[in-house]
Amino acid sequence: MSQSGENLTVRVQAVRWEADSVFSYELRRPDGAPLPPFTAGAHIDLHLGNGFVRSYSLCGDQDEPHRYVVAVNRDANSRGGSSWIHDHLHVGRLLEISPPLNNFALAEDAERSLLIAGGVGITPILSMVRRLSALGRDWTLHLAARTRGQAAFLDELTRLAGDRPDRVRLHVDDENDGELLDLEAVLAEVDDATHVYCCGPLPMLDTFEKAAAGVPAERRHVEYFAAKDAPATEGGFQVELTRSGKTLAVPQGATILDTLLGAGVDVSYSCTEGVCGTCETRVISGVPDHRDLVLTDQEKESNEIMMICCSGSKSARLVLEL
Ligand code: FES
Repeated sequence: MSQSGENLTVRVQAVRWEADSVFSYELRRPDGAPLPPFTAGAHIDLHLGNGFVRSYSLCGDQDEPHRYVVAVNRDANSRGGSSWIHDHLHVGRLLEISPPLNNFALAEDAERSLLIAGGVGITPILSMVRRLSALGRDWTLHLAARTRGQAAFLDELTRLAGDRPDRVRLHVDDENDGELLDLEAVLAEVDDATHVYCCGPLPMLDTFEKAAAGVPAERRHVEYFAAKDAPATEGGFQVELTRSGKTLAVPQGATILDTLLGAGVDVSYSCTEGVCGTCETRVISGVPDHRDLVLTDQEKESNEIMMICCSGSKSARLVLEL
């Protein structure tokens, strides 16, 4: 995981239609200077004009330093994120964004990569396909969409597949009597030299985690856009902050983040659901109750870092570097 630098201001250079209810947004610095570098699988936070902060994967090419591209699907249940973007983020508008953060890194030296995307989950996978193609690596993509019209970036993916069009395998539910992509069958072709990646809606990720359970963790990569579990709001413990010198009681019904914000502590956060990694905090002592979908099992077991937006404490006291 990596993130560096302060937020920056970008201008919307172009908006493009990519699929039914999906637009892509090309973002550039107003002065045309290069943006902070990113690697395939990274995301940025968009600070929206309505006060919301939303994370979106970068789907452009990591070798293009002057622009970021994100794609946004208008969520039918949007509470002000995707609908605000579709309605207000027009060409020329200035926008504050975070530098890139990557919780879904590509193993560039893998002999083979099997990529699975559902719907707009194609966005981080597209940047991976670009990178693997640039490196001349062996990759196969299974893209699932409810309808053909919802399959974003199909032309670009076909172009990237070059003279091996069979590398892009599209599954359209509506054209298969509503049947979903059979992930068991897809994963049956995985061998010891293959890394597997999945990004899509929660039910797809659940199915993937079960079907890929036999693939060692270091070759299995998943990106969540939304939380699977409820945040830890049991409370009943204290957090001691080494930088500010404060000690706060986390009450029942509140997360650590809620408690810190309520006490006026300045902390970085974005998704508040344990999926973006923005609130990562160093743990000096104590045992966190990890609830996020960002840290690896190994990182969780080390108890050296935690996501304070959703994780709680198994010990009576947590000492945090804040
Ligand atoms: S704010 Fe996104 S993981 Fe905590």
